[in-house]
Parts: sequence; C-alpha cells; structure tokens
Amino acid sequence: MQTHEIRERFTQHFINAGHEPVPSASLILDDPTLLFVNAGMVPFKPYFLGQQTPPFASGTATSIQKCVRTLDIEEVGITTRHNTFFQMAGNFSFGQYFKEGAIKHAWALLTNPVSEGGYGLDPQRLWVTVYLDDDEAAGIWENTIGVPAERIQRMGMEDNFWSMGVPGPCGPCSEIYYDRGPEHGKEGGPIADDTRYLEIWNLVFMESIRGEGDKKGFEIIGELPKKNIDTGMGVERVACILQGVDNVYETDLLRPVIDAAIELTGARYNAGNTRDDVRFRVIADHSRTAMMIILDGVTPSNEGRGYILRRLLRRIVRSARLLGATAPVLEPFMNTIMDTMTPSFPEIADNRERIVRVAVAEERAFMKTLESGTHRFEEAAASVKAAGAGTLPGAQAFELHDTYGFPIDLTLEMARESGLEVDMDEFNREMALQRERAKADNKAKKQGNLDESLYREWVDSHPTEFVGFSELAHDGTVIGLVRDGEKVTEVSQGDEVEVILDVTPMYAESGGQMGDRGRIVVGDTVLNVTDVQKVGKKLWIHKATVQNGGLDLGQGVTTEVDSSWRHGARQAHTATHLIHAALRQVLGPTAVQAGSLNKPGYLRFDFNYTEQLSDEQLREIATITNQAVDADFAVNTIETSLEEAKAMGAMALFGENYGDVVRVVEIGGPFSIELCGGTHVDHSSQIGPVAVLGESSVGSGARRIEAYSGLESFRYFSREAALASGLAAELKTPTEQLPDRIAQLTDRLRAAEKELAAMRRQQLSSHTAQYVEQAQQVAKFSLVSVKLPDGLGAGDLRTMASDVRERLGARPGVVVLASSVDGKVPFAVAVTKPAVEAGVKAGDLVKLIGGYVDGKGGGKPDLAQGSGSNPEGLSAGFSAVRDHLAQA
Ligand code: SER
Repeated sequence: MQTHEIRERFTQHFINAGHEPVPSASLILDDPTLLFVNAGMVPFKPYFLGQQTPPFASGTATSIQKCVRTLDIEEVGITTRHNTFFQMAGNFSFGQYFKEGAIKHAWALLTNPVSEGGYGLDPQRLWVTVYLDDDEAAGIWENTIGVPAERIQRMGMEDNFWSMGVPGPCGPCSEIYYDRGPEHGKEGGPIADDTRYLEIWNLVFMESIRGEGDKKGFEIIGELPKKNIDTGMGVERVACILQGVDNVYETDLLRPVIDAAIELTGARYNAGNTRDDVRFRVIADHSRTAMMIILDGVTPSNEGRGYILRRLLRRIVRSARLLGATAPVLEPFMNTIMDTMTPSFPEIADNRERIVRVAVAEERAFMKTLESGTHRFEEAAASVKAAGAGTLPGAQAFELHDTYGFPIDLTLEMARESGLEVDMDEFNREMALQRERAKADNKAKKQGNLDESLYREWVDSHPTEFVGFSELAHDGTVIGLVRDGEKVTEVSQGDEVEVILDVTPMYAESGGQMGDRGRIVVGDTVLNVTDVQKVGKKLWIHKATVQNGGLDLGQGVTTEVDSSWRHGARQAHTATHLIHAALRQVLGPTAVQAGSLNKPGYLRFDFNYTEQLSDEQLREIATITNQAVDADFAVNTIETSLEEAKAMGAMALFGENYGDVVRVVEIGGPFSIELCGGTHVDHSSQIGPVAVLGESSVGSGARRIEAYSGLESFRYFSREAALASGLAAELKTPTEQLPDRIAQLTDRLRAAEKELAAMRRQQLSSHTAQYVEQAQQVAKFSLVSVKLPDGLGAGDLRTMASDVRERLGARPGVVVLASSVDGKVPFAVAVTKPAVEAGVKAGDLVKLIGGYVDGKGGGKPDLAQGSGSNPEGLSAGFSAVRDHLAQA
C-alpha cells in the first residue's frame, strides 16, 4: 500500500467516526519552545490547555501533521526507524471520548480488512504497552479488545508517560507495536526488542500538566480542565510494514532517492558494506527533511532552524562524496524527493524552483567552505607536525566544526590521511560546552512562554478588538489592570501599569512594526502609553504610566494613538515592503526575509544571504525602492484565506496556521505582495524618500539592510551634504574631487609612515651591539632579553632577534625581544645553533612566554615568534625564560 493511500485511509476512518479533518500546520509555528513542530498535537496545544475553545463542533479532530525531530540525527540510517522528518497521523478528542474510545478507534483501523478501509494487519502480531499502574487501559485491551494478557506489557515513565519534553500538557500513554518476525530480533515483546517489535501508534491519555524536569522525573503540577485524547501513528512506520520493506528508508517515498544516489555515485546499496548503507539512508532521510523545511520557509544559516537545515544539506553532500560522487548532488536529490512527496503535499509543485535554488546555493557554499576549511586543516596539521606532535587539538577540530561546518567524521578522516589523531576528549568537551550554551538559550526562550499564564483568562474570554486600521481614537472599557506582575483593580498617579481594554485603536508590536505610542484618557486622568504588546495573538497589553489621576477596572476610557507616531510607522513599514521587493528583484528569490523592525523614520530588514552585497547591488535596491515611491503605487489590503493568499503569490507564509484568515498587503499589483498585519500608507508616494544607509552582517548567513524613511531621510541627506561641504572647505577642494584628494593624502601618510618605520629600525639595529654587551650569563647560556620601545611588529622583532643572534657568534645563546602594539605584546625568540643542540627550542620558549602574556605562537627551533594580550605578564615571562635556561 502506497504511503499516500495509508494517509487517505487514516483520514477517512476518523471522518467516518465524526472527526473534523484538519490540514497539517506549517513545520514552523509561533511556539517559542519549539524549533519545529515535532508532534501532531502541537497545533492543538491551546485546546488541551484550555486556553482556547476548540473550533470543532464534534469536539474531535484528525490530522496528518508534518513533523521534524533532529535530536537523534546521529541514529539516522543506523537503526531501522529514525526519520528526521515524518508524518504523524493523529486523532484528537477534546473532552469527548477517552481511553476506551481511543483504543477502539486505533484497533479498528489497524486490523479492519483492507477491503473495508483498514490496514488489514494480523491481530496476532500486535502487542501493546501501558503505563505502569494504568490498569484501566490494560483492562480495556484485554477485556474489550481481546488482546491476550501476555502481549500487554507495562513500561515506566520514560516510555509510557508522554509530554512535550517541557512544562505543558501530558499523560500516561499506551503504545501499539507490530511484531516483524524472528528474522528482525529476539522474542519477548517491545520490552525485549524494539527493532523486531516496531512501535507504530502512541495513544496519549492527556489529563495532566507537568512542570520542569527531564523525561524520567518531572512533577505533575495540575490537572487539565478536561480529559483528552492525543494519538500519533507513524505513517512511515506503517508504510514500512505494509510495503514489506526492512526499514523506513526504503518505502515508496524514500527508496527512489537511494536509487538516485546509487546511480550518481556508482556505489552499491545492500551489498554488505554497512557504512555505505548508512550513507545512502542518510541521503534519503535528510533530502526529504531538508526539502520539507525549505518548503516551509527556512534557509540555511548558522543558528536555530537555519543551522539544522545547513547541517542536513551538508551531511547529504558529504555522504554522497564518501560514496564516490564527484559532481553536485543536491539538485537531483531534491528533484527526486519532490516527485515522491508531491502527491501527499501538492504545494511542493509551486515551490520546486525555489527549493532547488536554496539547496544548490548551500551546496556551492559548502564546496567553498570545504576548500577554506581544508586549507585551515592543513595549516593546523602542519603546525602539529612541526611541533613534533601527533595529535590535532580538540579545540582545532571544534573550530573546524563550528566555523567551517566540518562534520567531525570529515576532520577525523583527513587527520587519519595525514597520519594524525584527533583529541576527541577535548573536542567532546567543547561540544558539550556548546550544548550547554544552547540549552541556556532554550531555557531563556521557554521562560517567555510561562510568563503569559497571567493573561490566560483574558486571552480566552476577552480577546481585544483592534480598530486601529481605520481609527486613531476610540472609546473602550478597562477589562484588566496589571501592576508589578499582579492583577489589580485600580491604579493611580505615578504607577507603571499594563492596561487591557475590550477594544483599542493602538497597534501592538508585531510583524516587525513597533507598538503605537499614545494616551488613554478619561476626565482628568491621563495615561501615557509607551508600548503595546500582544499576548497569544489575541490580547493587547498597553504598557503605560499614569500621568495624572487614577483608573479603575471597568471604567470607560478614550484611547488615542499619537498620530505623528503612526504616520511615521506607516511610512517605515510600507518602505520595508518596498525594500523587500527590490531586494528580491536584485538578488533573486533565495534572499528570504529573516526578520525586520520598523518604527517612525527608521527600518531594518534582515535576510538570509551568504554573500556581502556590492555597492552596486545596494544602489540598485535603493533606486528600485525610490522608483516605487515615485510611481505612487496604491497600497491595498485584502483579508482572505491562507489558500487564497498563497494562490495570489504572497510571500512569507511560514508561521501561519491552517484555517487562519490572513491579511495580504499588495503594493502596485505584482510589485509587492506580502502577508502582513501591519499599518501602511495608502499610496507609496506618502512614504517620502527612502535613504538606504548600508548593509552589514548579522551572524553568519544573515545580512541586514538599514534605511531611513520620510522626513528622517531628508535629515540624513542634509547631514551628509553638510559633512561633505565642510570637508571640501577644510581641504580646499570641490566636493566632487574629495575622494581623490583624500586618497592622495592617505597615500602620502602611508609613505611617511613607512619611512619613519625604516628609520626606527635602522636606529634600533644600531643598538644591537649594545644588547649583546648587556647579555646575562645563565648557566652556560648568554641570554639577551629586552623590552624594546613600543610599535615594533613581530616581523621587525624577528629580524632584530636574528641580528643579535648573529653577534652572539658561536656561544650558546638565546635572544628574547618584545614590544607592544595597540595593547598587544608581540615577541620573538632566536636561539643560536649550540643552544639548539643543547636542547633549547625557540618554539618552546615562545609557548612559555605565551603562558604569561595570554598569547600563543610558534615557529622553528632556532627562530619563533608570538603575540600576547597581557603586557603586564611580560617580565614574569622573561624570568621564566631565565629559570628555564638555568635548568636546561
Ligand atoms: N503526542 C504523542 C506523540 O508524539 C502522540 O501523538 O507520540
């Protein structure tokens, strides 16, 4: 049975049982605790928690949700069942049926004959597990369904108590396993062998709320308002069974990618080479996951989702090369996986070109990286060898991983080829530290989620009505007051408060546009609103200071938006859309938005792009933007369904949920069409000039354009003009000739500096004789160690140190010279031949000094150099050299 049919049968089974079919949500949802949607229940979380009322008349729903889990990425291809992308088919009951209903529904679908819409699985091969003390579930399995007691096993918290891994809804669960037969492992049920007994369906009896803690030991901190059902059936696992294949990488959806890889690489699959087999499966699994997350709007970067995508794509390329590929591989792999996935996900068809482009650009970038990383590796390997060592430091391997995107197996392999080992302990320590940092990050993110509990009641019962698209002042009623994080019933002069109104004209920060500024007034009472934020997309929180008077819960007020603020914000926001459109005209569709901010007079726009923009590209973007202003395009906003918006070609679709009504902002017809909830001018000419300030990097893989809009642009241009004419007057040159004039001046300055440095060196070398006279005798060595005047670089010091060494002649001698430049301490060590023979190495001494001045360096046994950042440590460094020689 094809995967597509497995999906259809699932949905039909639950529709027949009265469930509302719900399309899959995007992999990327507005949930700060998740990088990707990782379970079917995620989009339904607010219904389980009772934050929102489920919009399904039957109180039940069914979906086949796209999921991504990348925690087990190293397991992919090694086990038979780890997919980083999978489809979770689920049925959900919000306070309707509970354990018995869930068990009966699942059993019927699995065991009903194929001719009656089921999967026709042999009941004798099905095993189930229940949570330790869940006698109720065990009883239903045994007595109602008729599963023999010996095929019902009990498992603990870690396996049979489900939660999202973070505080939130949870409950005991019951899992259904399929026995694939003795050729797949040992007898004894799921407890004994989870490869032979493949888990296919998890039924969660969701009734509690959990607190902090890990999988094995979190506390239950409360009960959910109702008893719910959340189930998840692994579509690819059922496909694996129904198609009689050995593992989830060989189903109808993924096997074609393995075949494409066989063709491309010439390697053989399933021919007894386990390592190669794993590589084939990695290619198949990762190709699909990468494709699906690009589809939902992610582009490669060095953080978060973008990093996961980058890692997946690079692992594909790397695996293919290890299998023998020499040509680019991502385009054929993406095409193959798009072919197999389109019947289930028709939206792929409209995105094929974009998906291939993103993947291919990353493959190119990786090939470049491979080049520069290989170079870096060779340098590192050479210096390890020069120092006579055989182990590449773990920190180096980590740098290759972190900065150059080298998977560790690549570094290991290259090290092996150069006859080196890698300090894996140190590498693992660095990786663990990085994971700690990531965890701390995540924790900080989760915190944001919890804080919202204060507002839960209002979110559900009193969503704010926003009237600010058409009105700047409006009457409303105070339905909530919060002071110092607590609900209060009245506030008075001087208080910093949060005000919740039933209706407001004030825009709450979202989509990059900052919240409105304005006032809330009634009688003599005035509150100054300094920010407006949204909670749960539904509740407007006005942050305000009580300027005068006081305010009570339930009081009627008038809310006024500061109209000049709003005017500026509209200009900046529409200008952001124009820049986005211009950017895509100039850079192509792979320059995808990564974030933006706009407020009166200023905007910035972040996008994923791996290269720096040229001046010419920037100028072109600015020109197209200002031409669009000049064209006086009409700005239209249209409210429509997500599907309609997609059909119109609107950009930035990720983060939206099924069934959402979305707002499309269209400027100049096809010029710019975006989903956006912000406030905009009516005609593009109302923006006024847009001054593009420049572009910069914001973390790898992402770039930022900044610009002024409206009057602020005019101010900027006048400032620039004044600056230029001031300089022109100062240099007595017409403004157009300023660049030439300044170039001339800098050239002259450089020449003068060079001359000065040469003179200084000459002067210093005239001192070499004097340094030799000052040599101290330490044991059998003559030691010259001098801190020279500031400003000498490592090169100068090295030359001088060898001069002094010459003069020491045939004596065993050591020369140490140091200087200081911009807070750094460059130093050089030269050792005469007899001293080298006596076992003194310049490189060792450089390391020794480095330890005192927080620096490092290296070189040859007779001449080495280094640089440190702690000038204070220098004299201790000198003494250490003395002690070293005394003992040599
Ligand atoms: N939420 C459960 C799981 O992910 C069942 O859908 O396994």
